[in-house]
Parts: sequence; structure tokens; C-alpha cells
Amino acid sequence: MNNQNEIKNIVLIGFMGTGKSTIAKALSNLYGMKIAEMDQLIEEREEMSIPDIFAQKGDAYFRTVETNLILELQQHKNMIISSGGGAPLREENVKAMKQNGIVYLLNASAETIFARVGQDLHRPVLNGRRSVEGISELLDQRMPKYRAAADYVISIENKTAAEIAKEIMRQHRSTHS
Ligand code: S3P
Repeated sequence: MNNQNEIKNIVLIGFMGTGKSTIAKALSNLYGMKIAEMDQLIEEREEMSIPDIFAQKGDAYFRTVETNLILELQQHKNMIISSGGGAPLREENVKAMKQNGIVYLLNASAETIFARVGQDLHRPVLNGRRSVEGISELLDQRMPKYRAAADYVISIENKTAAEIAKEIMRQHRSTHS
């Protein structure tokens, strides 16, 4: 294993409700790495909730703030970066993620996603899509970009957060050995 400073970031991407934040916490608990929780950082800095940013400033504004944060975070190493579900949709974001990071795509079915976040009003992108069909449509639309961004794809179905964290770390270590 290389020097600590040489360890790349673990960048978690995936649709809303695929467990990015929970798995980031499990990784942090197990391996002591620091987490950058992007949506939370954006809310803190903008002093506004994500739904309020979308409603009051618009989604283009949110996407610009998101890109700026990714550019800032790529200067760090050995961190867990838990990104928002729309972050891999812009090519420049993906380029920045890969600068110092390995990108792990968390995958779940539309049914699982609906059960987890279908009724969560904190996710404005789901407005008008709060059904398995609505989620499935957006998931299919985004999947080519998610897959193109991913270095590794991890299914989260029927696994605990700790199991997934260990799976990611095994992969991550093997990319550094
Ligand atoms: C978004 C996902 C959200 C948040 C914003 C937009 C998206 O993050 O960044 O509401 O476009 O998929 P989570 O994936 O953490 O819910």
C-alpha cells in the first residue's frame, strides 16, 4: 500500500436512495476516513435546504454550486466523497472526480429506490415521479452516464452497509497495490 497521502478518494455515485450517505458512514466507521457529504456541504454553505435551493434559485444554480464543490474536493486525497445523484451527469464533474478518486457506482432497482425514497420530499428531482415507473424512467435515462463515470459497479441489493463498505474497500485497496 502506498503512502497515506497517495491514497485516492473513494467517490460514491448513484441514484437517489442507493445508500451513498449510509455507505460513506460505514466506510468512515470501519476505516477512519473523512467524509465529504456533498449535499450537506451545499446546504450548509448556501444556508438553505436542497428543496429550497431548487425552488428559489433553480436547478441550474444548484448544478453550478455542485460542480464548484467537486472541483474543490478533488484537491483532497484519502477521503470518502458522497456525491449527489445528479453529479455524474456532467462530464466536467466526472473528470474532476477521477482526478484524485476512484468512482464507485451504487446500483439498486427502481423498486428498492422507490421503497427507500419514493415519498421523501427532500428530493425535489423526484417530484412528479413518485412511482416505480417514474423512478425507473429517470434511472434508465441516467444509467448510461452513471456507467460511463464508474470505475466499479456495486450492487447494494440484499447487503448490509458494512458488507458493501468492505466490498468497496477490498476493491479500493487492490487498485493501490
Ligand atoms: C439529486 C440528488 C440529490 C441532490 C439533489 C439532486 C439528483 O442527492 O443532490 O436533490 O439529481 O439525483 P441524493 O442522491 O443524495 O439524494
